[in-house]
Amino acid sequence: MARPAARSAANRSEDLVAVILAAGEGTRMKSRRAKVLHEVAGRPLIVHVVASARGAGARRVVVVVGVQGDEVAATVRAAFPGLDVSFVEQRERRGTADAVARARPALRGHEGDVLVLCGDVPALDAASLARLVRRHRRQAAALTVLTAELDDPSGYGRIVRDAKGAVRAIVEHRDASADERAIREINTGTYCAHWPRLDRALRRIRPDNAQGEYYLTDAVRVLIGAGERVAAERHPEPELCLGVNSREQLARVGAAMNRRTLRRLMASGVTILDPASTWIDDGVRVGRDTVIHPGVRLEGQTAIGRDCVIRSGVRLTDVEVGPRALVRDYTVAEQSSIGAGATVGPFAHLRPGSEIGRECKIGNFVETKKARFAAGAKASHLSYIGDAEVGRGVNIGAGTITCNYDGEAKHRTVLEDGVFIGSDTQLVAPVTVGRGAYVGAGATITRDVPAGALALSRIPQKIIEGWVARRRRRKARKAGGGAGG
Ligand code: UD1
Ligand code: CA
Repeated sequence: MARPAARSAANRSEDLVAVILAAGEGTRMKSRRAKVLHEVAGRPLIVHVVASARGAGARRVVVVVGVQGDEVAATVRAAFPGLDVSFVEQRERRGTADAVARARPALRGHEGDVLVLCGDVPALDAASLARLVRRHRRQAAALTVLTAELDDPSGYGRIVRDAKGAVRAIVEHRDASADERAIREINTGTYCAHWPRLDRALRRIRPDNAQGEYYLTDAVRVLIGAGERVAAERHPEPELCLGVNSREQLARVGAAMNRRTLRRLMASGVTILDPASTWIDDGVRVGRDTVIHPGVRLEGQTAIGRDCVIRSGVRLTDVEVGPRALVRDYTVAEQSSIGAGATVGPFAHLRPGSEIGRECKIGNFVETKKARFAAGAKASHLSYIGDAEVGRGVNIGAGTITCNYDGEAKHRTVLEDGVFIGSDTQLVAPVTVGRGAYVGAGATITRDVPAGALALSRIPQKIIEGWVARRRRRKARKAGGGAGG
C-alpha cells in the first residue's frame, strides 16, 4: 500500500507532509462503519481532516489506515482527485506512535516537517493548522503540539508544563496522577514536527503505560530528554479541537462546526434568524442580505445568491439559487437550480435535474424532476412535471401531470413558449404542445398539439333536466311502500 519512492521535492526542508492517523477501531462508536467515515457537516470526518491539511499547505498526505482501509482510501481519493496521497496499513492497533511509524516508508527521504493529525478531529480548520506550522517554524522546535483548554478535560492527554511554562510532557488521562488530572490544558492530538527528529524519537518509545500501547505523546519526553525543543500552540476555540470517539461527541462536534459556519455567514452579511435550528454544511455559500428562517438545512455544494428569502423548514442539497429568489416553507430540493427572482413552494419538491428559470413560479405540492422551466413559466398548484422542457411564460394549471413513464422507459414532454395547460391535464409522453397552444381543462393529451391550436379531450357535457327530483321520488317509493312525501 505504501508508496516507497521518495520524490526529489520531498527533500526540501519547507516541504510539508501530513500524516493522518485513522487506523483506530472506533469501538466506542458501536458501528459497523469505520469511525473516520462517519459524517459531520455533510462530509466524512477524514475528508474534513484531509481538506484542512491541504489548506494548511501539505502537498502530500499519508493516511494510516486499519479497519476498512479500502473504503477509507476510496473515500479520500473520490473527494480529492489528483491529490498526492498514499495509504499505509497498520494491521495491529499498537498505539499512535506505532501508527506514525507505519508511515516511515512513505516518508523516506523527507527532510522537512510533518503535520500529524488525527482522523477523528474534523473541526480543526486550515487556518488553525497553518498557525501551528508557523509557530513551529518560528520557534525552530523539534515538535510543536496544538493544545486547548477544556472545562472538562477528562479522557484527553494533559499538557504538563514546568514553572516557566515550558512543555515538559503529555500524560494520558489513564496514566495521570490526581494533580495532573486537574490540568485543563489538553493535547488535541495534532502536532507539527521535524520528521527526521520525530522519526528518531519514535524508535525510543516503549509501551510502558496503562494501555500497553506505543504513545505518540511520549515523543515529547524523549525529545526533551535528547535536548530538543518542544513547543505548544494553544487553540483559542477549544470546541473546534474536540475529537469524535462516540456518537455523542459526533453530535457535539457537528454542532460546533455548524456554529462556526453560521458565524462566518452572519459576519459576511447573511441574516440567520435562529442559529440554534439552522444547519448549514461548511461548503455552502450564501449571498449578502439573504434571510434564513428557522429550521432550514442547507447541504453539500448549495450556493444561494443575494437578497433571497429562505423560509422555515426548507432543505436544499446541492442547489444553486439565483439572487432575489423566494423559497417558501418546507420546500425540499436537490441537485437543482432556482433562477433569479423565482418563487418556489411552500411544500414543493424539486428532484434532481430541475432547472427553474428566472421569475418562475413553482407553487405548493408541485413535484419536478429533470425538468427545465424557461423564464416566467408557472406551475402553481398540485402537479408532477418530470422529463420536461417548459418554454417561456408557460402556464401549467392545477393538477397537471406529465405521464412520463410507460412502465418500461421514460419519455419527454415539451411545452413550447407561451403554452397554456388547463387544470387537471395529463400529458402522455412523448408529446409536444406547440408554441402558444391551449389545452382545455381535464384533457388527456396523447398526440402532439400544433402551435396556436386548442386541444380538448373531454367527453361533451350532458344535461338531464329534473333528474334529482325524479330520483328522490323513486327512492321514497321504494322505502315507504307508497306513503310518499
Ligand atoms: C489521543 C492522544 C491524547 C489526545 C487525544 C486527542 C495518544 C496516546 N493520546 O488519545 O493525548 O488528548 O488523542 O483526541 O496519542 N490511531 C491509530 N492507530 C492506533 C491508535 C490510534 O491509527 O494504534 C488513530 C485513531 O484512529 C485516531 C487517533 O489515532 O484517529 C487517536 O487515537 P485514539 O485512540 O482516538 O486516541 P485518544 O485516546 O483519543
Ligand atoms: Ca480520539
